Amino acid sequence: MHSITKLAELRQQVRSLRQQGKTIAMVATMGNLHEGHIALVHQAKTLADVVVATIFVNPLQFGSGEDLEKYPKTLSADKAQLESAGCHFLFAPTDAEVYPHGRDNQTIVEVPATSNLYCGISRPGHFQGVATVVCKLYAMIQPDVAVFGQKDYQQLHIIRQMTQDLSIAVDVVGSPTMRNSNGLALSSRNGYLTADELRRAPALHRALQATKLKLEQGSDDFPLLCEQAQKSLEEAGFNRDYFVIANANTLMLAQPGDRQLVILAAGYMGAARLIDNQVVNL
Ligand code: PAF
Repeated sequence: MHSITKLAELRQQVRSLRQQGKTIAMVATMGNLHEGHIALVHQAKTLADVVVATIFVNPLQFGSGEDLEKYPKTLSADKAQLESAGCHFLFAPTDAEVYPHGRDNQTIVEVPATSNLYCGISRPGHFQGVATVVCKLYAMIQPDVAVFGQKDYQQLHIIRQMTQDLSIAVDVVGSPTMRNSNGLALSSRNGYLTADELRRAPALHRALQATKLKLEQGSDDFPLLCEQAQKSLEEAGFNRDYFVIANANTLMLAQPGDRQLVILAAGYMGAARLIDNQVVNL
């Protein structure tokens, strides 16, 4: 695997790959890689000739008081994992390489409506930061295809819309959520959990599955189902963020009669804010 930190070198490599007629798949990450990220690399390898992974803890998507400073950085272990997964290039730039005029003078990409729902309420500005950096990574890497985890369902939805709205010729592919043996979705933020919290955290997945079952059995009092789920999460030790049943295609709150649903949830367990989701096709 070839590691690159400078944009000028990345551009040279991309030009040369293009001249050779190679297709490129992009896997964007913030590092501290786990099996979920590695699954994205494996999927990306099936979709293009060359995989370019990125590791960049994007300051633009963190609000004040969030975990930007303590976000885990494990670059050498990450490189080893990417290498053994058969990733071809790693682009791991500095902040200055990505935001040469500083983050406050950066042109922002904003996807309307959905950016200000759910995670966007708890994390104002977060999705503007995500859309902006992904758009920049597209411009830098010029991928044919980009693979993102479905665990961040709202993020994936927003990236799809941004890609379409800006007429960018990248095929956006969602990859299934990887879970530990207790059902907890793999996330770099699971590292903030104590052993006791780690034992309690799978309640999030269980609450989503229980709600899915009730929907499949015909319940359509969505606010009631969400309140029941929130109570079960509180009993497991979560502090509330949100638990909603949305239309899977628009992300707006679901209406009785909608058939393609997604249950989206986030909650605080100790120092970690965990998110997960469950798609339901009725
Ligand atoms: O999902 C993530 O890790 C990040 O939000 C992403 C897509 C790499 C953008 O910084």
